[in-house]
Amino acid sequence: MDEDAFIPVNVFNSQEWAETLHKIKSPLTVLKSRLEQALELEPNTAPELIKGLHTEVNKLVTTVNNLGIGTNPVKALPLSKINLKQLAIILLQRFQLAYPELSINHHLQGELFLYDNEERLSELLSNLLENACKYTPQGQVLLEILRQNDQILICIRDSGIGIAPEDIPKIFDTFFRASNARETGTGYGIGLYIVQQIIETLQGEIKVESTLGKGSTFLVKLPV
Ligand SMILES: Nc1ncnc2c1ncn2[C@@H]1O[C@H](COP(=O)(O)OP(=O)(O)O)[C@@H](O)[C@H]1O
Ligand SMILES: [Mg+2]
Repeated sequence: MDEDAFIPVNVFNSQEWAETLHKIKSPLTVLKSRLEQALELEPNTAPELIKGLHTEVNKLVTTVNNLGIGTNPVKALPLSKINLKQLAIILLQRFQLAYPELSINHHLQGELFLYDNEERLSELLSNLLENACKYTPQGQVLLEILRQNDQILICIRDSGIGIAPEDIPKIFDTFFRASNARETGTGYGIGLYIVQQIIETLQGEIKVESTLGKGSTFLVKLPV
């Protein structure tokens, strides 16, 4: 696909909507805490803080403008042949650096290629790996990727806090965060919603198995 191709805003999909919401929420949170800081500090430190506020507000204005009221074009995603194994290794190195206390392992089959958008696949894997790491205060995370007939199977297993059976049906909803997750790590409750949107776009499927206090397994199947 032509990298400069544009699609009209009326096909602005729910994944983009969710990402936009996320982009609005992040600077707003910074804004709020900076304001609280400004109120507590000496008046002579205010100019630096105000500059910081200005930057955050500008980010917010740009994002809101990009929501587009009818006419803004949204860039189409460029597609190419992606080496999933290479992508996974880069992400795993990043997560191992961020979570040195965890034992992060992998089992990746030789030839793993998908024709798709690299950022989209990276977002899919990163969200699942981030959850596995974030919700595993100590223990192991394992990423397995293999090809089975005309499907790629991605399995992310962790030995973390797990998910209560009554919460499993809700974890793909926007802004849902289980109470044990709120005690363990920060987040907006939007990552799995984005994951689900990506999997739907790719006509794949996702399954979750989890035991509270023991760990979780997310299994993704994507057609090749
Ligand atoms: N690997 C996991 N272990 C335990 N709970 C998880 C895991 N992945 C997702 N969850 C649950 O699903 C919720 C939604 O996940 P997500 O949308 O990524 O939001 P966030 O990471 O911001 O909390 C989490 O808050 C948590 O309750
Ligand atoms: Mg998450």
